[in-house]
Amino acid sequence: MKIIDVIRHKKTFSSPPAWMMRQAGRYLPEYKKIRAQHPDFMEFCFSIDDVVEVTLQPLQRFPIDAAIIFSDILVIPHVLGQKVWFETNHGPKLENIDLNHFIKKAADVDFKEKLDPIKLAIQKTRNKLDPQKALIGFAGAPWTILTYMISKGKTLDFNNVLEFRETNSKLFKSLLDLLTQKATELLLLHIESGVNIVQIFESWASAVPSHLHEEILFQPLRKIIQTIHEKKPNFPIIYYGRGINKHYNQISDINLVFGIDETSDMQEINKLLPQKVLQGNLSPQTLLTGNHLESSVLDILDAMQDKPFIFNLGHGINKDTPLSHVERLFATLQSR
Ligand code: CP3
Repeated sequence: MKIIDVIRHKKTFSSPPAWMMRQAGRYLPEYKKIRAQHPDFMEFCFSIDDVVEVTLQPLQRFPIDAAIIFSDILVIPHVLGQKVWFETNHGPKLENIDLNHFIKKAADVDFKEKLDPIKLAIQKTRNKLDPQKALIGFAGAPWTILTYMISKGKTLDFNNVLEFRETNSKLFKSLLDLLTQKATELLLLHIESGVNIVQIFESWASAVPSHLHEEILFQPLRKIIQTIHEKKPNFPIIYYGRGINKHYNQISDINLVFGIDETSDMQEINKLLPQKVLQGNLSPQTLLTGNHLESSVLDILDAMQDKPFIFNLGHGINKDTPLSHVERLFATLQSR
């Protein structure tokens, strides 16, 4: 597997392995067709055969090097007892619950059993997938999940969440600890079911002030990685901390691939982290508009030539992205 050669053996390619965050999603007409059969998005995430199918869909169209299992970071609160649902043109909605009660009840939930459909979907996907292509599992990082849980589906207000940390410090810590533990369990379940790589999404890292990075972001991250690597030494893990790429030098001692968002320049980040395998960072906006698409892709390849590197977007693909732009992206990658 090309991606595994890059991560484990630091191999370099003139045309690096590539995948796209949110590659299974609404820019694909064949995704929308299956999505239309599931009014309840969370139910869809547990429908084994449809999960397998939508996971594989983008690879049937484009020369992508990895599939990412179709699921969502909000599966964790959902199965632990805070219902999650999606309304058209809204972000996620989460049930208004008593968090103290939630934490107490979470201990009684048979997490592994509830995740059985995900395990089966991963096994089936891995069996169907080309052996040369990697399967990626994932989890949301504790802080990002916590922001959704506390905001309860209202527009995310990070000042509110940080205020909650001040006024309910014990509860905040218990919740962060619980989510650290559950994210670890979920990632291990993905790994034991057959994924080849996992990615941790800290999509709202930028909302954490730098003096709280250690407490809120990096200590939980270290715990997760330590537990996984104790059980699976050297297992490939990608960390995507959106908006904090310039702080990655504080965690460069951790055995991680770093996912870079589109606000950073690959050349600069490369200087900051000369020893690390990097992934990134085409702007989803460039892919959406198609303006300067080829030159933007080639700039990234030039910045990363002779480095172990995985090409990706800086964030998830926009749902209105024309398929022809994705075709142009992969044609440009393959021209090298
Ligand atoms: O990348 C993939 O293709 C794998 C599947 C995947 C989904 N969500 C499917 C999905 C992954 C890796 C995620 C992660 C996720 N979910 C994140 C972290 C990554 C990021 O984008 O920052 C976050 C913050 C979420 C929470 C979430 N779930 C949001 C904000 C939304 C979009 C709400 C909306 O309607 O725009 C979702 C729903 C969701 N998850 C969709 C998909 C394809 C779209 C919902 C639909 O099909 O109607």
